[in-house]
Amino acid sequence: MTSSLPVVRDVPSLRREVAAWRGSGRTIGLVPTMGALHEGHLSLVRTAKERCDRVITTLFVNPRQFAPHEDFERYPRDEAGDSAMLVAAGCDLLYAPERAVMYPEGFATNVIVSDVSTPLEGEFRPHFFGGVATVVTKLMLQALPDRTYFGEKDYQQLQVVRRMTRDLDIPVTIEGCPTVREADGLAMSSRNAYLSPDQRRVAARLNHIIHDTIKAVHAGAPIEAAEQEAAQHLIAAGFTSVDYVAIRDAETLAPVNDLARPTRILAAAWLGKTRLIDNMAV
Ligand code: PAJ
Repeated sequence: MTSSLPVVRDVPSLRREVAAWRGSGRTIGLVPTMGALHEGHLSLVRTAKERCDRVITTLFVNPRQFAPHEDFERYPRDEAGDSAMLVAAGCDLLYAPERAVMYPEGFATNVIVSDVSTPLEGEFRPHFFGGVATVVTKLMLQALPDRTYFGEKDYQQLQVVRRMTRDLDIPVTIEGCPTVREADGLAMSSRNAYLSPDQRRVAARLNHIIHDTIKAVHAGAPIEAAEQEAAQHLIAAGFTSVDYVAIRDAETLAPVNDLARPTRILAAAWLGKTRLIDNMAV
């Protein structure tokens, strides 16, 4: 029988656990999530457990990173299911704060990262990175881990968190982990649960079209033309609309004219009311 995962819901309890581990010389890894866990999240937990003595997973559906018209209310929530998966993956502690713990009455601070958070997701979800940067700063300062783990699935988020951690001298190492995919290439996401069977079949095309676009630019296609063609292919494949397909500098996400520096292709497209994102190294 597997034992159940210890859970803490407030900052003093979290800090007590962390202090006890520190006292016995343990290193600590932190994995921030919004729950509805899948293999993508669990891969971060397993990597954290390989590299740190103790692993804390956080579960908080962060209202500040959703716009009023977005899916905060219907975002999937299953703490009991998440907790069982986390025990099996080697997690040592679940930190699941209530909203009032993270944002008590009178909360008035926002962490805003410029440049890297401005294009792409920043353009289409202008509230998003402020909410992410604020909550990730709080989670890291609450737990003060040695390392914090993020997925490349949310590539721009990873770059924003890296920039912010450097800029604010937060004494935590940020580690990026590869995207975990379904057998047909679709990046795992809690939001995939929204897709109908027909939409689910179309969804896999996002990654295939990204692959084809990488091949095209390596074969000499001009970058802007390749981006436009990819967007057309997504619509032809059955996507409802395309927010962007962009080939960018892998660190700053600024536009590029060639592949001289490390480059990343990033895309966001809608299937009905569900928005999917994906990215790969070019
Ligand atoms: P969430 O979408 O729950 O994702 C939590 C972490 O899991 C993120 O670092 C994300 O990149 C990673 N992840 C999600 N799907 C993945 C996949 N298929 N392969 C690898 N990693 C994957 O991202 C957030 O939550 C929030 O913005 C958060 C950072 C928790 C702040 O609220």
